[in-house]
Amino acid sequence: MPKLEIDGISVDADPGTTIIEVADRLNIHIPRFCYHHKLSVAANCRMCLVQVEKSNKALPACATPVADGMKVWTKSKETMAAQHSVMEFLLINHPLDCPICDQGGECELQDVSMQYGRSDSRFTEPKRVVLDNDLGSLIESDMTRCIQCTRCVRFGDEVSGERELGATGRGEHMEIGTYVAQTINSEVSGNIIDLCPVGALTSKPFRFTARPWELTQVPGISPHDCIGSNLYWHIQEHVKRVVPKDTEELNEVWLSDRDRYSYAGLRHADRLHKPLLHKQRWSTAGWMEALKYAASAIKTIVDTHGVNELGVLVTPNATTEELYLLQKFVRGLDCNNIDHRLRQLDFNDQHLAPKYPNLGMDYRSIADLDTILLIGCNIAKEQPLAALRVRKAAKKGAKVCALNCVDYHYNFDIAAKCIVPAANFLASLAALAKELINICNYKADSATTAALASIEVDQQVKSIAASLKSGAKKQIILGHIAQMHPQASQIVALGNLIAQIIGGNCGSFSDGANAAGAWLTGCVPHRLPNGDAAPQAGKNALQMLQTPLRAYILYAVEPEFDSILGVQALDSLLQADVVIAISPYQSDTLLEIADIILPLAHFSEMSGSMININGTQQQFVAALEPFGESRPGWKILRMLGSMTELEGFAFNTLEEVTAEMQSAVVVGTALPKWQAQTLTPIAKTASKDLLRIAPLSLYAVDGLVRRATPLQATEDAHSDP
Ligand code: SF4
Ligand code: SF4
Ligand code: FES
Repeated sequence: MPKLEIDGISVDADPGTTIIEVADRLNIHIPRFCYHHKLSVAANCRMCLVQVEKSNKALPACATPVADGMKVWTKSKETMAAQHSVMEFLLINHPLDCPICDQGGECELQDVSMQYGRSDSRFTEPKRVVLDNDLGSLIESDMTRCIQCTRCVRFGDEVSGERELGATGRGEHMEIGTYVAQTINSEVSGNIIDLCPVGALTSKPFRFTARPWELTQVPGISPHDCIGSNLYWHIQEHVKRVVPKDTEELNEVWLSDRDRYSYAGLRHADRLHKPLLHKQRWSTAGWMEALKYAASAIKTIVDTHGVNELGVLVTPNATTEELYLLQKFVRGLDCNNIDHRLRQLDFNDQHLAPKYPNLGMDYRSIADLDTILLIGCNIAKEQPLAALRVRKAAKKGAKVCALNCVDYHYNFDIAAKCIVPAANFLASLAALAKELINICNYKADSATTAALASIEVDQQVKSIAASLKSGAKKQIILGHIAQMHPQASQIVALGNLIAQIIGGNCGSFSDGANAAGAWLTGCVPHRLPNGDAAPQAGKNALQMLQTPLRAYILYAVEPEFDSILGVQALDSLLQADVVIAISPYQSDTLLEIADIILPLAHFSEMSGSMININGTQQQFVAALEPFGESRPGWKILRMLGSMTELEGFAFNTLEEVTAEMQSAVVVGTALPKWQAQTLTPIAKTASKDLLRIAPLSLYAVDGLVRRATPLQATEDAHSDP
């Protein structure tokens, strides 16, 4: 192990590490622009030049590996002279934009130039000007400020896998751009804003709205996906922007555009200020009046028609505390008709499902996998940050295979793929299982053998099977198409069978930010909190909407978008005697179907917790006051429970709700698994009938995203997923 000395401090370093890495470990600051610990070393800015013993010139700390006996000085006269020269060089063409530059106050160049720059310039020549690119609705460019560090280019090349920016020209004429005029369309594009050390790439929606020192930073959790990305809300009266909070095991240093820009929907014109009641016509109401009306309407329906005439649909994005209280309310009425699985068609295997949805493996280990099979999964458009981890695995040599109804573009190499019509999706998966049974000499039980008897194996399937046979760490990921498929339970059974044959794991990324919390708290019709079986299973989401009920509670659900039945779901809701919507937004549809709309505080306006795909419960606090007269969900449900005269709703604080919820729900440390499934016979269909597949657009997943104007102006919002 090399032993070196930096600024007189002796340190042992791992072979192959660079001076800058060791200095960072020692908290010795070396200025840098092009270096970033998540990117390859470009060594093109030279800002990190340091004096190294026996070298006749200063060396770039980011590109110089440590050596035994090396002596480095980061503050010596020679180092300072080199760094001052580089700074002068960088500023030759840099505009004097700081007062009007959005990066001002958080600019690496500004900070470093304060330390290493001159107060005057020796150059009188005109500065160069570079025309800006129109990069779309999310990123503003001001390329005259670019110092050509190429961090943004390397991010596309190395991390996102979409090379959307590149350098043209050389020397003074070098420019960063999109080659031909086009927008940046990656689903993780906003990360180049964080990477850009200057104000060349900034957030378009945030532009000119606040200065960094005017903002208060409050930590939060992503409200959209099951990874549970950590982020910061930047607040000045309301949320001005969102940036990633470094959390290596979840989002590393990145954030998806969905998490970064969805805040734009927080103050949409649809936000509801006050409770709304529909008697003869819609009118605003006080909270007490609205809650009394809601409680009495529910009691009347239940007393007159029985609890089976009540259906409760809830978003999987709600906090664990809201989910717990909502199911407590429903179960307090002796009803089990509660569900968050609004986009599912096949519920046959629900009793065999694990306690909460998971991958069957630790999310953090995706990058270490050797073999991955994506089944009905367009991973980048479903879980953008998970796709970055799959890409990492692929770059390290993992074989990634895909079985899909659509030939998706992936940001990593695909070793083998099988693209089949939706009607034969299940048969192709069955063929894969059959081929693997054969080539892996797997002893299948008689039911499995019989179920696969009539299946034929084609060449596409054989090539996937050959890839899946190799490698030690293997994972099968069921995507949106698989989860929403009308034969989803058979697909899950086959996925688990294949995982068993190849010695891997099978799992899925669940819909919404807190599906794990919804399962664990009992927001499913057949299970109580902690996964205990309900004495009698209630109706699932599909059953509740296919056959009209007399009363519904919609909890942050916009049925026409959130239910797989789409506008069909509205028919049932229109026939109901009473529909109570608890929602941050009002919409024409809610005004048409609902009788009461109670304004719900949004993310950033309430505290609570979420449970991610790894079963990790993350707590967060409200970053600002609720909008208008809206209330956090737990307060609404507490009052509704009390007014419906149910016991156990006398909570004074959220902490009391959390404590009760935690005593009822044990997440456990080991990831729960599926119980054994039995295949029923599968046959290739000759039917020419169309089968609807409904992949979900990245920017249509929930009401907040659907109202985030900058996201809705992107290509992803308009193209087929
Ligand atoms: Fe000033 Fe930085 Fe903007 Fe350049 S990029 S104008 S140094 S704030
Ligand atoms: Fe670096 Fe920013 Fe220029 Fe990209 S745009 S090369 S990140 S300075
Ligand atoms: Fe080392 Fe740019 S940071 S050369």
